[in-house]
Amino acid sequence: MSTFTIDTSTSRATPSPVPGKRMTAPSIRARKADGKTEQPIVMLTAYTMRMAQLLDPHCDMLLVGDSLGQVIYGLPSTIPVTMEMMCAHGAAVVRGSWHALVGVDMPFGSYEASPEQAFASASRIMKETGCAAVKLEGGQAMAATIDFLTHRGVPVIGHVGLTPQAVNVLGGYGARGREEREARTIIADAKAVSDAGAFCIVLEGVLEPIATEVARSAAAPIIGIGASAECDGQVLVTDDMLGMFERTPRFVKRYDDLAARISEAARTYAEEVRARSFPTTDQTYKPKG
Ligand code: KIV
Repeated sequence: MSTFTIDTSTSRATPSPVPGKRMTAPSIRARKADGKTEQPIVMLTAYTMRMAQLLDPHCDMLLVGDSLGQVIYGLPSTIPVTMEMMCAHGAAVVRGSWHALVGVDMPFGSYEASPEQAFASASRIMKETGCAAVKLEGGQAMAATIDFLTHRGVPVIGHVGLTPQAVNVLGGYGARGREEREARTIIADAKAVSDAGAFCIVLEGVLEPIATEVARSAAAPIIGIGASAECDGQVLVTDDMLGMFERTPRFVKRYDDLAARISEAARTYAEEVRARSFPTTDQTYKPKG
């Protein structure tokens, strides 16, 4: 049974059975001290209130990723994702969680032009969702923006390596760091983002030895996806890890096969409706008396 209650005593959209107990950006950052992380950081994506409720007790961070473009909206990439989508789903996830820090992705085109543009977008996301951090993609080129945001009350999650919003520049979603020069750039990107003040950094789709080097060299906690077990934490797209899609990328471990289970439930329901064996007397209302 859920113990979930809405805290109506505050004006913030923070449903919480234990008010004030959410993970914070400083508490996540503090997990890594002297280059070591004793307790790895657990992060999963969430886009809806109910999924947030289910994941929250198990996670340190919930990420409202712009992967919702493909996962929820059937878009071909994250490029068309809008601020309206991120704000609506971000607010739902904040309402469905009380323990995990909720981070919301800044959509493509909402932050790259200037630090000022990034601040306007980040502050809108924080005001409209109640989230405690935003994530933005990019390395050295984004360092000044990350510095600008963190000095103005916006905790930032960095994202380097394979950066899906740059798919048209990268030419695809293949693992990064196969060439020496690219590997050096990824390591320098992580350092720049860490030095600029990101409290943690998602490192996506890079060769394992490079990911290990990034995790060892960057001061901020490195949260890997398709990276290395040496990272300070891990993140997966929840729908991938639950087996909602037939295709599983190499870096995903399937912890369930929900697509098959949902299909089977729908098939049985359809069969019973057609056979008039659903509803039974258990599911119908009887007159009183
Ligand atoms: O958008 C997303 O879900 C992400 C994760 C893959 C880290 O950025």
